[in-house]
Amino acid sequence: GRGGPSLLQLTLALIKPDAVAHPLILEAIHQQILSNQLLIVRTRDLVWRREDCQQFYQEHAGRFFYQRLVEFMASGPIRAYILAHKDAVQLWRTLMGPTRVFRARHVAPDSIRGSFGLTDTRNTTHGSDSVVSARREIAAFFPDFSERHWYAEEEPRLR
Ligand code: TYD
Ligand code: MG
Repeated sequence: GRGGPSLLQLTLALIKPDAVAHPLILEAIHQQILSNQLLIVRTRDLVWRREDCQQFYQEHAGRFFYQRLVEFMASGPIRAYILAHKDAVQLWRTLMGPTRVFRARHVAPDSIRGSFGLTDTRNTTHGSDSVVSARREIAAFFPDFSERHWYAEEEPRLR
């Protein structure tokens, strides 16, 4: 937080429609979160509106996979988490593994994407790529969430 050293970093994690559709995969990913000491700050199950999805992935607009990505992400239920950890952004990205499924299977076969990813698009999970992205992405899914208030309320219990 502002004005002092942060104990916990926040990230946005999404479980994509391909993984939510399979209860055992959804559960396995949830267990990965718990067993790696990521703290679940908020969670929400939803079906994404196409317009919100387009907005969220604006940085990829015009790339060859953009339309496919948007259609897929709005195609069924997803789960959003705010996760907290000393190194939440990098830790969650490491647990996910590389974006592309063949690379994930080769270099990180035990990662979430290496284990459960189907294609480059249907790759089970999303994770913020920086603290700055995380702040924007958390606000997109949890507009009422205040990082400042969360730290203020929760910090004493987490020390
Ligand atoms: P990107 O931000 O590059 O990957 P990451 O999810 O690891 O941050 O891309 C966003 C999503 O776009 C990615 O999770 C799946 C989709 N995508 C494709 O469908 N094909 C591709 O070749 C790439 C790079 C991404
Ligand atoms: Mg990305």
